[in-house]
Amino acid sequence: METTIIVEEIKLGCKDGSRQEREEDARALGRQSLRREKRALGHCWRRIAWRLETYCLGFGGALSGFGGSSTSHEIKLPSQHTSLRVRQPAHKVSSEYIAKYNKATEIMRNLPPSDPRNFMQQANIHALYCDGPDGDKDGLGKYIQFLVHNSWLFFPFHRWYVYFYEKILGNLIGDPNFALPFWNWDHPDGMQIPDMYTDESSALYDLNRSTAHQPPTTVDLDYHNGKAPKPREEQVDDNLYGVMYKNMVSGAKLPLLFFGSPYREGSTTTPGSIEKHPHNCVHIWTGHEITPQTPLGEDMGAFYSAGRDPIFFAHHANVDRMWNIWKTLDGPKRKDITKPDFLDFSFVFYDEHAQLVRVKIRDCLNTEVLGYVYEKVELPWLKERGMPHTRLAVPRNPNVRKVELTDFPITLKGSAVTIVVPRPAKKARSKEEKEEEEEVLVVEDISFDGILRVKFDVYVNDEYAPGPANAEFAGCFANVPHKHKHGGDHHHIHKVSLNLGITDLLDEIGADNDDSVFVTFVPNNSYPVTIGGIKLELLS
Ligand code: C2O
Repeated sequence: METTIIVEEIKLGCKDGSRQEREEDARALGRQSLRREKRALGHCWRRIAWRLETYCLGFGGALSGFGGSSTSHEIKLPSQHTSLRVRQPAHKVSSEYIAKYNKATEIMRNLPPSDPRNFMQQANIHALYCDGPDGDKDGLGKYIQFLVHNSWLFFPFHRWYVYFYEKILGNLIGDPNFALPFWNWDHPDGMQIPDMYTDESSALYDLNRSTAHQPPTTVDLDYHNGKAPKPREEQVDDNLYGVMYKNMVSGAKLPLLFFGSPYREGSTTTPGSIEKHPHNCVHIWTGHEITPQTPLGEDMGAFYSAGRDPIFFAHHANVDRMWNIWKTLDGPKRKDITKPDFLDFSFVFYDEHAQLVRVKIRDCLNTEVLGYVYEKVELPWLKERGMPHTRLAVPRNPNVRKVELTDFPITLKGSAVTIVVPRPAKKARSKEEKEEEEEVLVVEDISFDGILRVKFDVYVNDEYAPGPANAEFAGCFANVPHKHKHGGDHHHIHKVSLNLGITDLLDEIGADNDDSVFVTFVPNNSYPVTIGGIKLELLS
């Protein structure tokens, strides 16, 4: 079977989104039915294609070259690849490889700015999809928040994005087998900025990186703004037993938990486990400290600028690798999403021939079909888990504010808050029942200013925040700053929810028979967050 990518050149008539088209969008967005939602999204993506040309390339830049025609044609991806591109761990590659990768990146940086394969143009594609250059209005003048983060669009968007980036690099050096490296931050040997990115004379270097986190500082997969580096051993344990184990194994047993929630108009989205935790934290850890020149922690620390650091692509290769690995782990539900509105969703990119292409999620589920695989390396986080810290049955820390369910929405700012949450009626379930349905801690409607590095941790039955390597740690919420400009104002309230799978956690801390648990929110900074509600639910 051959996979088809439709090359779709955008009709000039759609370029400025006619009034009629915008009104149609608005009407469609205003209704809840799935069919209409999909139609609305289709319109939005058409505008994205339009913006790809106008925003990335500047008005006029590529219009003569790429627009103005309504013809479509198809690219065939070979059904069988004679050789697969192998993405290797960045800390283990040869010096020949580094020289080649550096060369390709240098050529990419030196392409004319009007070439969509130019390094900055590629970075701008990320800004466009992940940040939104200046907001987008519907036909009624209301801003539409249109982003690929915090939902099930996260993995497939970035897979396609990195795919084209890699193909472009390979094309520029005439090597179709060229593969990007992956930043192996889930293995102790890979837990620092890989050396090839720190050579100041290299095209892989970026000045806008944290000065405090240069090698040999160990990466903190649970980083929050300003957190001091921990001793190496402790940090490695936090990364492996806390962050990786929880977000790949115990807390990610359902597609909903791993990929994040559906992207549908009218419902709040939730990020997937890998996205919200190691992915977001590594972005912020890598970006520069906040200064007047880097007010949002550029480059990696803010979505609009993240693609300007070549390390972005090694970071995302590892995120992408987690998708492949997750599907091979034990458990009956570790499978790709099969919903049609997921599979048929499409994105627009420029391919290695500088042609505008529209690609569907359904065509990227298997990386071998895309022509690449990851070198297999040991997964030290797979079986290790943290120990319980304390076994508290009731909240008793006098320094932690107690709230009731009826107090919600609550504001979290600077200090911890504890709340008793009833368990679902059916508790102490059998192993089979637990595999069928996961007990999920749902933190609803978290709203915050999207420009801030908000982060808070969530613990079950522990008010002392012993750290992510302890069994009571359920997960965190972390935001990477967005900077949509909505009518000149960068501040914009984001709203997302959080789903944390805690079936294993409850077993580990011996709370599976209890009628209720207490949940503690521990803010890592003083940025205010509002939490709309909290509940425990059985989800499948
Ligand atoms: Cu779209 Cu890691 O970002």
